[in-house]
Amino acid sequence: MADITRLGILTGGGDAPGLNAVIRAVVKSASNHGCECIGIEESFDGLLLPDRARVLTPSDVTSILRQGGTILGTSSRGDPFAATASRDARASSAQAVDRFHELGLDALVAVGGDGTLAIAYDFYQQGVPLVGVPKTIDNDIVGTSSTFGFDTAVSFATEAIDRLHYTAAAHQRLMVVEVMGRTAGWIALHAGVAGGADVILIPEIPYDLERVAESVAARERLGARFSIIVVAEGAAPRGGAVTMVEPAKDGRLARLGGLGALVAAALEELTGKEARSVRLGHLLRGGSPSSHDRVLATRFGGKAVELVRAGEFGRMVAYRPPDIVAVPLDEVVGRTKQVPLDLDLIRTARAIGVTFGD
Ligand code: F6P
Repeated sequence: MADITRLGILTGGGDAPGLNAVIRAVVKSASNHGCECIGIEESFDGLLLPDRARVLTPSDVTSILRQGGTILGTSSRGDPFAATASRDARASSAQAVDRFHELGLDALVAVGGDGTLAIAYDFYQQGVPLVGVPKTIDNDIVGTSSTFGFDTAVSFATEAIDRLHYTAAAHQRLMVVEVMGRTAGWIALHAGVAGGADVILIPEIPYDLERVAESVAARERLGARFSIIVVAEGAAPRGGAVTMVEPAKDGRLARLGGLGALVAAALEELTGKEARSVRLGHLLRGGSPSSHDRVLATRFGGKAVELVRAGEFGRMVAYRPPDIVAVPLDEVVGRTKQVPLDLDLIRTARAIGVTFGD
């Protein structure tokens, strides 16, 4: 057993429902083993900024299980240690590692998505005893069957699609629903199937809107007067580019979004039917975590403390149903889990008549 008496925890990247459930599980299980928890605010930035560290006791986390967001705050401003015009990467990294030691921390739990986990791995390689916890509504992290946040996001998107069926039917319209997911189509695929979508466009399958229009026309011939089209923000036409709100800059990823409106306008032209679009955006990140995500997040937090106490660092907790396991961070970072084209769910969706625009 590693001698751990002060454990740091931080949350990074886009927030996701369930983050507070992880924090709660880490603080309560660490405290039950005589270990004090120190919350680092605003992700790794909090190691470079003053007054961003505070003790977290079980009483501090009593009521946060059902809260969305993160009580520690987060940052998605890119890698704080990356070199910029005004900042030397090595100096910043060294400063952050020094701060870790100044705080008297014995180990660190980093809860985040692909970006945060990549920074965490860099920290581990610089000698910081660290365990990662995967977090994202996108469900695009390699090595884990799913991440907390995903189920809550899909549930919300499904409810939105259910609501839109009524207005689409009332007006005999095409309703285009744009969901997040960055470069993976997991949210669009699952919410599309759960919501009974007729068309699902995902990044993994380049689409042809002519094919989509043909499928709408075929449905009309069978008497269907409206269609529901779910598009992932990162989907793109064959040979085309993704739709961005803002290009990548200063080490920050490009902001995707806007595809739904473009697809609606194009389909109006191609089909002669009225079309409207709804972009769910950050609504998918909000709200209280589902029961599934609360349980998964709690399990992740408990496992992270087990790994810390066992001295098993440089690993990420992962969901391998029915178990929570540990996978080496170097097998995770720098990779994205996209939807496999031979996924059984895609086959089933096609079998019930969903078109993917290909
Ligand atoms: O990674 C989670 C996510 O919600 C993506 O689905 C989305 O593209 C991105 O974050 C949005 O980032 P931001 O909150 O910085 O706009």
